[in-house]
Amino acid sequence: MKHITLLAGVTLLLLSGVSHAANSKLMQQANRLFKPLPKVMQSEQNPITPAKVKLGKMLFYETRLSVDGTVSCEKCHMFSLYGTDGLQKSAAADCKVAPRNAPTVLNAADQISEHWIGNMKNVEEQTSKAMSNMPNGNYTNVVAKLEVIKGYVKLFKDAFPQDKSPVSIKNIGLAIGAFERTLVTPSPFDAYLRGDGHALTREQKEGLKTFIDTGCIHCHNGTYVGGGMYMKFGIFAPYWKYTKSKKIDKGRYELTKNKADLYVFKVPVLRNVAMTPPYFHDGSVNRLQDAVRIMAKIQLNKDLSNDDIKKIVSFLGSLTGTMSKDTLTVPVLPPLE
Ligand code: HEC
Ligand code: HEC
Repeated sequence: MKHITLLAGVTLLLLSGVSHAANSKLMQQANRLFKPLPKVMQSEQNPITPAKVKLGKMLFYETRLSVDGTVSCEKCHMFSLYGTDGLQKSAAADCKVAPRNAPTVLNAADQISEHWIGNMKNVEEQTSKAMSNMPNGNYTNVVAKLEVIKGYVKLFKDAFPQDKSPVSIKNIGLAIGAFERTLVTPSPFDAYLRGDGHALTREQKEGLKTFIDTGCIHCHNGTYVGGGMYMKFGIFAPYWKYTKSKKIDKGRYELTKNKADLYVFKVPVLRNVAMTPPYFHDGSVNRLQDAVRIMAKIQLNKDLSNDDIKKIVSFLGSLTGTMSKDTLTVPVLPPLE
């Protein structure tokens, strides 16, 4: 009896030793490909200060700047929906439909560029251009509208103390940009990368391995599991045959007019991807498992089994993070006095 217990004990020890080794090998591999999220997404051009973040958050929720008084950033980037609007394509002012799907604003400020085709340099430029009525005409006369609200004038002075006329399109970009740079959502995957082998379930670890071995990591890698490069959507077959997209979007070609950029898009960040359907630049695919199957097929020419898809989806679930209490608190906006 003693013998058997001893034997069982040794076997268990060996087994757990083996799985522990495999586990840490996967963890090391993962650490070479990915990085845990930083606390905030710093920028040399736009240092984050509490005064800027406070103002930026208010402006993010502010509807009074829009043409019809109904549109704010938060209308299309709702925190209750992980920084998206859940629509295939966003509805702008006058119920005009935006040309593409709204990506999340969470963990978005450290990418190679902003927007699906990378036509905005960074979050600061993205906001300034939106506010100066480019590209979609949701906002008008924002500076004049802000200057009559005393509370805002003070907030701009506090955030930009060196500036002679602090209420400006540029500073709106810097303030909202600073706020967006705080929108970081640490997840179980970050805990795993930091060494907690129990942060992922067994299925999630298998999914991570499948994600690596299948080749998804050629494009979706780094801290944000994407956001670092541009790639053709549909390397092995036209994407619309699989997504059933009605309108064919030419991608970065629209920006560069270079044939090599036909159907090229920014590789999107996959953080919180399980919470941000529908998928792809046109929101043409509703279910994450379908997006994963299509990716494997047309980016890598691989037919994944349902089991592999399930594992990858499970791994992607480990990228769902938590928003800080600060992010989730709705600000009280300055009244018109
Ligand atoms: C009417 C809906 C709508 C409003 C309002 C809106 N957005 Fe967006 N946002 C979108 C859409 C659609 C895209 C994708 C545009 C594209 O790629 O062509 C986008 C893209 C972005 C991106 C790029 C994310 C990435 O991963 O590339 C950021 C950042 C962003 N918006 C922030 C903001 C801010 C800040 C405001 C307020 C000033 C704002 N948005 C207002 C719909 C909206
Ligand atoms: C060759 C580069 C490349 C490879 C390899 C690749 N992807 Fe992608 N992925 C992209 C691009 C580009 C897009 C954006 C497509 C679009 O909508 O225009 C994308 C989009 C996605 C989306 C949709 C995200 C969203 O928010 O809409 C998911 C999910 C995804 N990929 C998962 C995967 C998985 C899982 C694998 C491996 C099976 C994989 N990708 C392999 C380049 C790649």
